[in-house]
Amino acid sequence: YDYDLLVVGSANADLVIGVERRPAAGETVLGSDLVVHPGGKGANQAVAAARLGARTALLARVGDDAHGRLLLGTQRAAGVDTAGVLVGGAPTGVALITVDPSGDNSIVVSPGANARLTPEDVRAADALLRASRVVSAQLEIPLETVEEVVLNLPSGTRFVLNPSPPRPLPAAVLAACDPLIVNEHEARVIAGRALDGSPEDWAAALLTLGPRSVVVTLGAQGALVADGEAVTRVPSVKVDAVDTTGAGDAFTAALAWRLGAGSSLPDAAAYAARVGAAAVTRAGAQESFPSAEEVAAL
Ligand code: RIB
Ligand code: NA
Repeated sequence: YDYDLLVVGSANADLVIGVERRPAAGETVLGSDLVVHPGGKGANQAVAAARLGARTALLARVGDDAHGRLLLGTQRAAGVDTAGVLVGGAPTGVALITVDPSGDNSIVVSPGANARLTPEDVRAADALLRASRVVSAQLEIPLETVEEVVLNLPSGTRFVLNPSPPRPLPAAVLAACDPLIVNEHEARVIAGRALDGSPEDWAAALLTLGPRSVVVTLGAQGALVADGEAVTRVPSVKVDAVDTTGAGDAFTAALAWRLGAGSSLPDAAAYAARVGAAAVTRAGAQESFPSAEEVAAL
């Protein structure tokens, strides 16, 4: 394989304002100066993996504009192969983000060019798919595009999905996931119902929908991994949170890369938890992702 990881997904300019608290409907609050960070769940995953040392490629679409150039520049600086990044058709996606003093965020995404990443673009990138050991995706691009990835997945290539923002998934997509990576809210939407019992019970319920394995992320409680044979708890790594934006993307990318390198699911998730923890200690998404040396020092 030429690539350890191919990320198929979104690229957004993150327009970030720090706030003391979020406005209620009809309310105006004053926030910090505006900062523009490179973001988007797909672009974030690609930078996170590349910074850890994975040979990484990105299949995405940005606009022919300043935000698109910012995103392409950041990908290239991180060492991501951007031959699969298509340019034009709509403005680059934008995420409007508020970050509060506890480091939590609220995000509204305008998909822009991400909505124009089509199934045809996936078919045209067949060589890239064939050259990749693991393919990861999220849901800031059209669901048909993710379905096309699954339909064109080479037999030896592993597929990892973080269905964010969540919506119900076709059976073929669910069946390809190894793992499906969800938080509690995403788990509920994917299952299509309220989930009772413990996170172990949620994982069992999700497994009945067809994925080969499931990872449930539990914030400060760590994560839980289930592959039908065993369910394993993975502890969180305690850090002072500055900005959680993109930490989940870093977690997913690190997990996908370690699985491709032959790690067990629990080992890959434990490594990914350290990567995610490092990412929340710094502002922004991509700028906050650690190198392998930094993860080892944690
Ligand atoms: O997961 C974090 C990302 O979500 C941000 O970078 C923002 O672009 C939104 O896509
Ligand atoms: Na961060």
